[in-house]
Amino acid sequence: MADRYLSFTGTAPGRFLTRRLGLPRPAPLVRWSPERPSFDGDSLHLTAGKSKLDLAATGLPLSLSSERPAGVLLDATGVRDVEGLGEAHAALHPVVRSVAASGRVVVLGAPLDPDDHHQAAAQQALEGFARSLGKEIAGGRTVNLVRLTDAVAAESTLRFLLSPKSAYVSGQVVEVGGGPVTASFDRDRPLSGRTALVTGGARGIGEAVAETLARDGARVVVLDVPAALADAERVAERLGGTALALDITADDAGERIARALPDGLDVLVHNAGITRDRRLVNMPAERWSSVLQVNLASVLRTTDALLASGTLRSGGRVVATASIAGLAGNAGQTNYGASKAGVVGLVRSLAPRALAEHGVTVNAVAPGFIETRMTASIPLFIREAGRRMNSLSQGGLPVDVAETTAWLAHPASGAVNGQVVRVCGQSLLGA
Ligand SMILES: NC(=O)c1ccc[n+]([C@@H]2O[C@H](COP(=O)([O-])OP(=O)(O)OC[C@H]3O[C@@H](n4cnc5c(N)ncnc54)[C@H](O)[C@@H]3O)[C@@H](O)[C@H]2O)c1
Repeated sequence: MADRYLSFTGTAPGRFLTRRLGLPRPAPLVRWSPERPSFDGDSLHLTAGKSKLDLAATGLPLSLSSERPAGVLLDATGVRDVEGLGEAHAALHPVVRSVAASGRVVVLGAPLDPDDHHQAAAQQALEGFARSLGKEIAGGRTVNLVRLTDAVAAESTLRFLLSPKSAYVSGQVVEVGGGPVTASFDRDRPLSGRTALVTGGARGIGEAVAETLARDGARVVVLDVPAALADAERVAERLGGTALALDITADDAGERIARALPDGLDVLVHNAGITRDRRLVNMPAERWSSVLQVNLASVLRTTDALLASGTLRSGGRVVATASIAGLAGNAGQTNYGASKAGVVGLVRSLAPRALAEHGVTVNAVAPGFIETRMTASIPLFIREAGRRMNSLSQGGLPVDVAETTAWLAHPASGAVNGQVVRVCGQSLLGA
């Protein structure tokens, strides 16, 4: 469903009217393409407080001065008090106006120190600072906060957030663990030699995820219900992968996937999902349970089965799909909201154990309003409100969720674990 308002605001009369009436003015977002894999030029490297972070070791293209930076990396890991916050203000205040359109601001923070409430206050303050800047910076620019202790472990995350791949990710806080992340990979095709399975991959967001993981070199398996087999085969054929017709709610779905993948699996993307909206007073048990079965029970069951059978091998990645409706709640979606909040609980609890016992990370993406068949069926006025109620004043595209999934699936993202990353343009819902 085309966003006609976005096209209109790009015309001269559109610009005039939106300015006069104070209407939202979405900027066309710059996204990854083979012709434009990254922004031109270095990112501006600023520091507040005394930092011990070795950013040079990441090989990121950083410079200490730039007139019109495409990205700004503010290292505030050394901020321990209110004076340090003043340094963060002093560093960004003079340059924020010069950040290029669709530019990126990434603030680096430290984990909160439970034994030092001044440090914890200052570091938590950075979250409110980054989120507020995200709401005012406009022009397709994004602002995110990464809490880290080791720059090298966070390299894949910083590259993603500073790139056109993260066009619809803003106002997020990502925590990256420490420690060396030893993974060798091909920079252009980081998933080459790896197998990825995408549930619900025949269309919509799942199709985009399969495409993006294939672009990154993965051999993809496109799983969908038997009724969608023709579409799943069409996607798989285009990507040089295979299709698997399977209802993910089948009791033995995990075993059947394991049988279909005797050589093992590296990336498991739980994308299949359904909605059956009704207010609770009108919701029969069948509508409740079908949503809980597809969106949550099958995710729990297949993840357990594929970890237990060893099909998901060490170095593997699980990426589950939550939703901002699971974080904020949504009228008419008690079933859907419950299922998606359940996904968040699964990720937070399983992540440390899956990494310790199987060498597998577990994270979630939480899409906001994404332009798909699911959102095209929402009544016009509610759809228009959903599209605009975010800092970028527009809906995201399936590829935005796909790029976020590809970052979490990256071989160098082993220190990103237990995270729930919203792909919502900093939606006001659940903020
Ligand atoms: N579109 C959005 O704005 C949005 C927002 C938040 C979250 N999400 C989530 O993103 C995911 C994808 O959404 P979408 O908009 O692309 O949906 P979609 O309806 O376009 O595609 C979902 C796919 O999942 C498949 N599927 C459904 N039940 C299945 C089952 N039992 N077994 C196997 N496959 C099954 C469908 O056949 C379909 O191909 C879902 O989990 C959805 O809840 C979407």
